[in-house]
Amino acid sequence: MRIAILASEGAPYVKSGGLGDVMEALPSALSRIPGNEVVLMLPYYKKIREDSRYAVEFVTNITVKLGWRRQYCGILRLKNPRDGVQVYFIDNLYYFGDRAGAIYGALDDGERFAFFSKACLDSLITIGFIPHVIQCNDWQTALVPTYLAAEYYPNFPGTKCMFTIHNVEYQGWADSYFFDDVLALPWEYRPCLEKDGAVNVMKAAVETAHLVTTVSETYSRQLMYAYYAHGMEKVLADAAWKLTGITNGIDVNTFNPETDAAIPAHYNAESFREGKAACKAALQQEVGLPQKADTPLLVMVTRLAGHKGLDLLCYIARRLLEQRDCQILILGTGEKQFEKFFADLAAEFPQRVAAKISFDLGLAARIYAGGDIYMMPSKSEPCGLSQMNAMRYGTVPVVHATGGLKDTVPGCDEKGEGGLGFTFESYNADDFYGALCRCIDLYAGDRDGFCRLQKRCMEQDFSWDKPAQKYMQLFQKMLTQ
Ligand code: GLC
Repeated sequence: MRIAILASEGAPYVKSGGLGDVMEALPSALSRIPGNEVVLMLPYYKKIREDSRYAVEFVTNITVKLGWRRQYCGILRLKNPRDGVQVYFIDNLYYFGDRAGAIYGALDDGERFAFFSKACLDSLITIGFIPHVIQCNDWQTALVPTYLAAEYYPNFPGTKCMFTIHNVEYQGWADSYFFDDVLALPWEYRPCLEKDGAVNVMKAAVETAHLVTTVSETYSRQLMYAYYAHGMEKVLADAAWKLTGITNGIDVNTFNPETDAAIPAHYNAESFREGKAACKAALQQEVGLPQKADTPLLVMVTRLAGHKGLDLLCYIARRLLEQRDCQILILGTGEKQFEKFFADLAAEFPQRVAAKISFDLGLAARIYAGGDIYMMPSKSEPCGLSQMNAMRYGTVPVVHATGGLKDTVPGCDEKGEGGLGFTFESYNADDFYGALCRCIDLYAGDRDGFCRLQKRCMEQDFSWDKPAQKYMQLFQKMLTQ
């Protein structure tokens, strides 16, 4: 099957969050299935151009029409792909090349990614890769199914399109002038792009894609409700017949405590006590905490965004430090209020709290390996990947039972039996506190029980093999629809 995957980020080339990880592992897992040919298309950001690890060859250039605009589009191909995936970059200096830093957040993001979506389709035709299936991701590529449906493209007669929602919070809103000025779609597509008097490209994708998926089963159900769907509940409930949840995996080769070059000692599920203890001691030293082997180290690697449940942690942090012997370590950047809270807390309790306000993949791996307890109290979580990374490294998760956290971390009892971590159902600080205390008390009171739980976490299969098969089943279904 010929599969084209379109996304605004993909590791290792460019990544701001979980989408980037998924766009590294999913194409690769699909390409390992015999008979598949997989093409991945990404914008050619300045950051990639300046990175000497990624040599590209120029294939050709074309002109992409965007309303009244005529824009240059260079098609570049990665010279030495690491696996069976052919990686193409869409080059346009004005949209992607000259901007420093962040890959999102510019005032013209709507136009930038409308260009990217259209350029991907034009480029597929130019390189002669007419896919059976196009899989596109989040609002940045949400216009693809609409462009296909609007029959701009007789070149794709049988191509089917899947749209995947990684987070419904970011929908691609634009002022209504965007419809004529940038999209210039046939007038009959206006209702499908219109929501509450503005343009919403995610809505259009949900309506025009052949199938819609999201990144966990629980989240696919939650999307029917206003509490989770950020105004999209009706649009998604109307599309329930074509909406499926497929829980993400993680890249078990990258995240592997037996081989990870970023961590100081290696271990596996059979024998991990010593290796993990060495990782913990080294981590404590690295972040400036006392090297206490028997004090549980509570860790979190996260974007410091509101929906990650940081308000709960802020509310209980002092109580926890008073009531339990523990250390807390946070790594991440984001909203200033949280950056300040954790920096202040670390300054107040330098022996017990460390806050690293940065984006550091190496330190993240050392935290997964060196931590004892992984905190993830997200208010909502489409899938979440770091709880799986943590489990793979034997760090026990304490999570809010929502979205993908509910699907990947079945709750255990206070003896640590019957599940993979400690969970709480209703989103409030006291329940989070209770779950954390149950986990800390198991660690302090029954270390063998805690180790059995760690071992079970490490033995889980979080690989992409099964999810990739589920994607294949849905691709087949689209083709026979
Ligand atoms: C988004 C979601 C996260 C999910 C990731 C990959 O970042 O917020 O829950 O794991 O996408 O699908």
